[in-house]
Amino acid sequence: MLLLGIETSCDDTGIGIVDSTRTIRADIVASQLADHKPYGGVVPEIAARAHLDVIDGAITRAMADANITFADLSGIAATTGPGLIGGVMVGAMAGKAIAAVRRLPFIAVNHLEAHALTPRLTGDIPFPYLLLLASGGHCQLVFVRGVGDYRVLGRTIDDAIGECFDKCAKLLGLGYPGGPLIEQAARNGDPSAFALPRPMVGRANCDFSFSGLKTAVRTAVQGRDITPALVANMAASLQAAIADSVADRARHAFAMLENEKPAAFVTAGGAAANQSLRARLAAVAAANNVPFDAPPARLCTDNGVMVAWAGLERLRLGLTDALDTPARPRWPLEEMKG
Ligand code: KG4
Ligand code: ZN
Repeated sequence: MLLLGIETSCDDTGIGIVDSTRTIRADIVASQLADHKPYGGVVPEIAARAHLDVIDGAITRAMADANITFADLSGIAATTGPGLIGGVMVGAMAGKAIAAVRRLPFIAVNHLEAHALTPRLTGDIPFPYLLLLASGGHCQLVFVRGVGDYRVLGRTIDDAIGECFDKCAKLLGLGYPGGPLIEQAARNGDPSAFALPRPMVGRANCDFSFSGLKTAVRTAVQGRDITPALVANMAASLQAAIADSVADRARHAFAMLENEKPAAFVTAGGAAANQSLRARLAAVAAANNVPFDAPPARLCTDNGVMVAWAGLERLRLGLTDALDTPARPRWPLEEMKG
């Protein structure tokens, strides 16, 4: 099987091609960072237009990288939600058009499911597994029983982890996206320099909260000179606070799964690229006697490969979608069907 995947739900135009031996045959990501930079965040209308500008060229390049023609493909997968609706429509329409003209099966992919299944592409992880999905827009602990079969154990009641990194980075005068810049700055900082709160620690559920942390960072830096030393110390302190909070939530997830033991603990989504977070999660997995795995950073942030892979997982179960499948701004994992 050979699948082409299209990802356009946020600010990256991703085109990926994978096959059933789990080989990545093409991986094109056209970033729009420069287009959004002046605004300090993603502007939905700019994103949709930028996807439209580059999508055809990105598909052509991916096909050339894989050295295949459309006739070689088994199906076309595209993210149809959740995400910024204009961009989602651009990618979904491109995918549907190729599927219609080439008479190929079309697979409507949930962006969250694409992140959730990536560890099976990169690590061959068996079901069921516990997943921390940590991106710019989403933060949840999910028990993944199978394709389309998700039990969400807890989620953020306000901001996502990546969003917290991004907002705090802005307060510290760093650029966007903030996660990688905070991680870099933290290398020279002291994680105990600022006594930040550890949100939700000890709560008898698996929910997250990060907006209080952002407020604490704002209060701590208000009126102070934003020197490189302060940025480094705050970045390290923030990273430590987030890692402590997330590790505690993950421990609760294992406790909730007493009767359904996961085969592995995995993480995915943009913020899962963070090495200090990964190290803490690996320790929680070890304490629960399960292996830990996380895709390489490049496949944690948005990309087309994960969409192609999710499409392949669905297609081999016979799950395909009609060409009038709508684009959805909101599409929780619990509403998936296997
Ligand atoms: O999954 P993703 O590419 O897009 C969404 O679906 O949201 O995630 C982007 C988020 C951004 O908030 C970014 O700051 C964060 O992932 N991120 C990181 C790192 N790399 C990306 N956060 C922490 N550490 C990183 N190294
Ligand atoms: Zn994402």
